Amino acid sequence: MRYLTFALAKGRLAKKTLKLFEEMGIDCHEALDPDTRKLIFINEEHKLRFFLAKASDVPTYVEYGAADCGVVGLDTILEEGRSLYEVMDLGFGKCRMCVCGPESARELLKRNEIIRVASKYPNIAKNYFFEKKNQTVEIIKLNGSVELAPIVDLAEVIVDIVETGSTLKENGLTVLEEICPLSARVVVNRVSLKLEHDRIKGLLDKINELISND
Ligand code: PRP
Repeated sequence: MRYLTFALAKGRLAKKTLKLFEEMGIDCHEALDPDTRKLIFINEEHKLRFFLAKASDVPTYVEYGAADCGVVGLDTILEEGRSLYEVMDLGFGKCRMCVCGPESARELLKRNEIIRVASKYPNIAKNYFFEKKNQTVEIIKLNGSVELAPIVDLAEVIVDIVETGSTLKENGLTVLEEICPLSARVVVNRVSLKLEHDRIKGLLDKINELISND
């Protein structure tokens, strides 16, 4: 039997997913070791292979079939726009994609002005402003600490993830509009879903059982 390969977005989502697998009786202790620098792990008993990748690369590995399945946030799925099946909401990693800024920027959003929007998620930002709101804006791609942008006048607003809201609060910013709720999802390669249907469905059913008992 071939290995069924899972690409996990490294960090909190991978940790939660590996713990879920442990609860299903699939040994993942090696991958859960906080000191390990290894990127790929094999479970011989269940013929499973896990690897840890940067979140934004998970949809790429899955689209090309280098991984049969992936676990990644909906934010990354929407941003990357890859061709794959999204098959399950794992219910953890819950947060929201929002337009945020200082309270004073609320008016600019209402008045449909041409404003600058900074984001790690330029495609989500573009889609929201151009398609949903019909507002022409300038999108500025950043790679992190996006909350800085309105403070130092790089942009009027940002499109970013809000979890607890404390980053916004500590920087004098607020949620101005909500784009969509987010959480961790299981994605599957289009061909794998056909060729490995029974194995994948078996695993998903077990995961579903576990998360619905939580
Ligand atoms: C994310 C996000 C916000 C923050 C939201 O950033 O981009 O900045 O977390 O969380 P909160 O609402 O609980 O404060 P991350 O920690 O991934 O760092 P980054 O901005 O450098 O990418």
